[in-house]
Amino acid sequence: MSQQLTVIGTGVIGNGWIARALARGWDVVAFDPAEGAEARTRAFVDNAWDSLEKQGLAEGASPERLRFVASLEAAVEGADLIQENVPERLELKCEILAALDAAAAPETIIGSSTSGFKPTDLQRDCAKVPGRVIVAHPFNPVYLLPLVELVGGEATTSATTDTAQALYQGLAMRPLVVKREIEGHIADRLMEALWREALHLVNDGVATTEEIDAAVVYGCGLRWSLMGTFLTFHLAGGEQGMRHMLEQFGPALKLPWTKLEAPELTDELIDKVVEGCEYQAAGRPVAELDRRRDDFLVELLGLVQKYWPEAEGLEGRI
Ligand SMILES: NC(=O)c1ccc[n+]([C@@H]2O[C@H](COP(=O)([O-])OP(=O)(O)OC[C@H]3O[C@@H](n4cnc5c(N)ncnc54)[C@H](O)[C@@H]3O)[C@@H](O)[C@H]2O)c1
Repeated sequence: MSQQLTVIGTGVIGNGWIARALARGWDVVAFDPAEGAEARTRAFVDNAWDSLEKQGLAEGASPERLRFVASLEAAVEGADLIQENVPERLELKCEILAALDAAAAPETIIGSSTSGFKPTDLQRDCAKVPGRVIVAHPFNPVYLLPLVELVGGEATTSATTDTAQALYQGLAMRPLVVKREIEGHIADRLMEALWREALHLVNDGVATTEEIDAAVVYGCGLRWSLMGTFLTFHLAGGEQGMRHMLEQFGPALKLPWTKLEAPELTDELIDKVVEGCEYQAAGRPVAELDRRRDDFLVELLGLVQKYWPEAEGLEGRI
């Protein structure tokens, strides 16, 4: 029997979940009160479908299995999994999660896409079954990137984590169970560190947005997509691996190589960053850039599988 994903909030991330679930042959029911939401979602799915086809669709997968409804209560009916994707504001998320908890069947898992809130805070107003609420943090584009960070709060039961793991695997994802809740989980902490440093480099006039992106694209980024930070540095230590790398570069940890504290987001900095990105985009609309990125990611994911087949067992190792 086919499964149903309920998606609450259909912005960039909600739409990404919708496209992923449809491609895996699930039924999807969506709710978003914004005017024109359904038309935007259908255009989004159309734009993503080509790369999803290249990746391989599940049997019966079709954009026609998406249905929009007019209320949150109607949306949760029959759901095997509910995914909350409203804007990143704690009060709003708590209100929506409490309403979902009140309306949904008690056994249904409720995942939140939050980028940084802790699950214990998100569960606080859920009066019925707070233990079924879990952070399930994806990465844009959700329909192609496999990682989902699963983070339980004080109330989250181990049964919820286990069931959630199986459900997200059913959506062809790689769940990473984060053992301890922390603002920003794991990956956003890493991305935020790079982001803060990049903003300083622009703010201090050291580099343009384009130059910083070139440093990532033609340098560290290429390696990261296969091996990540630690294993990459293990290789940087030569034959003796990480031990030699730490001997050589350990002292640099005491040097002022990073600021880490975010710079003040002044109007001037905003203008520099926005103008820099618009220059790089060179008039190409985001949907066109999305398609280019998606085609690249489909091939890149194939390369990761080819050159690091052990990663297939990732779920077992983490
Ligand atoms: N954008 C990213 O790269 C990214 C990545 C991972 C996680 N997230 C997280 O995903 C969540 C959504 O982010 P986004 O970037 O998709 O935001 P977004 O602004 O693109 O979309 C939010 C959507 O929620 C809808 N919404 C607002 N109030 C609602 C309500 N009461 N009920 C139902 N829908 C409502 C809005 O109409 C909008 O369509 C956030 O928690 C964010 O932190 C974002």
